[in-house]
Amino acid sequence: MQSYLAAKRTVDDRALNRRVLERFSDELAGVDDPARVVEFGFGVGTMIERLAEWGRLPERTSYRAIDRDPENVAAARARVPDRLEPTEYRIVDDHDSGWAATREDVETAELDRVETADFGERTDGRSIALTLEVGDALSPETIASGDATAGNDACAEAVVAAAFLDVVDLERALESIAAALEPGGLLYAPITFDGATGFAPSHPLDDRIERLYHRHMDEIRDAGASTTGRQLLASLPANGFEMLAAGGSDWIVRPRSADEGSGYPATERTFLQTILETIDEALAAYPADVLDPADRRAWLSTRRRQLEESELSFVAHHVDVLARLENN
Ligand SMILES: C[S@@+](CC[C@H](N)C(=O)[O-])C[C@H]1O[C@@H](n2cnc3c(N)ncnc32)[C@H](O)[C@@H]1O
Repeated sequence: MQSYLAAKRTVDDRALNRRVLERFSDELAGVDDPARVVEFGFGVGTMIERLAEWGRLPERTSYRAIDRDPENVAAARARVPDRLEPTEYRIVDDHDSGWAATREDVETAELDRVETADFGERTDGRSIALTLEVGDALSPETIASGDATAGNDACAEAVVAAAFLDVVDLERALESIAAALEPGGLLYAPITFDGATGFAPSHPLDDRIERLYHRHMDEIRDAGASTTGRQLLASLPANGFEMLAAGGSDWIVRPRSADEGSGYPATERTFLQTILETIDEALAAYPADVLDPADRRAWLSTRRRQLEESELSFVAHHVDVLARLENN
């Protein structure tokens, strides 16, 4: 999971809808200082890395990152401070249940100020106070505990939920997001899966495999849905959100041409391997009268060979959304 989430970074970098991201960044620039952001399903931390590298965060940001998988949080803790080192943001990292600094130049005495989100004396450029947390972002207790940690009753000005809403119960997630936000707060939900998974070159079993894979998301997997992107467009107004921007953010992974260097960019071969494994695991849940295991194996072995030979391309459709929680 951790190497998949890390490998996903460059795929997401290409896919993210720049218009929606720009609007998010512009809206965030106008909130009170420091901006308070909560990320649901933080994974290994690639979104905060990207936002910092691309200069998309306000001058001072208090960033609370929640993921239910302790191994993801451990991986984020190991990688994010280093990744942010070359950016213009100065980082304060949290570990375990309290706040603590990983950067040697942050004095212990400063931590109380960070804990209470008081950046008053920090005049040394852009900064992020980062807290990493293992927890269920859909639980009211987790969301409420953030207020206690921050030492005040304030909610966040923005919730980021990247590649998240399609793996959880959408209605519960929107309730929890609303609880985490101040009135007028922003929801940025990029890379929300929306019902299309395809490979090239085509294979005679593709349509069947895609249908069963999506059915697994809808009917067999614990939570989430294969058409969350479009469901979100309908659910936001019903849950008190005003839509500010929406756009497509499709994943397209393809082997490079000889001129481009051949093979797959960065670690995108690992990304595709995990996608194939995920599809295979989902399909293995079906009895033989729904999907003959020999068909599943034949499809997978063709796809694995094509990947090995750098012949496989992959497309998945996603939607990016920016919305504002209405004031009442
Ligand atoms: C598809 S991954 C996306 C991770 C990251 N946002 C990214 O785009 O790379 C979904 C993440 O949500 C986390 N997750 C799923 N359900 C969760 C929940 N109820 N509370 C917190 N995290 C959750 C998973 O552990 C995983 O890291």
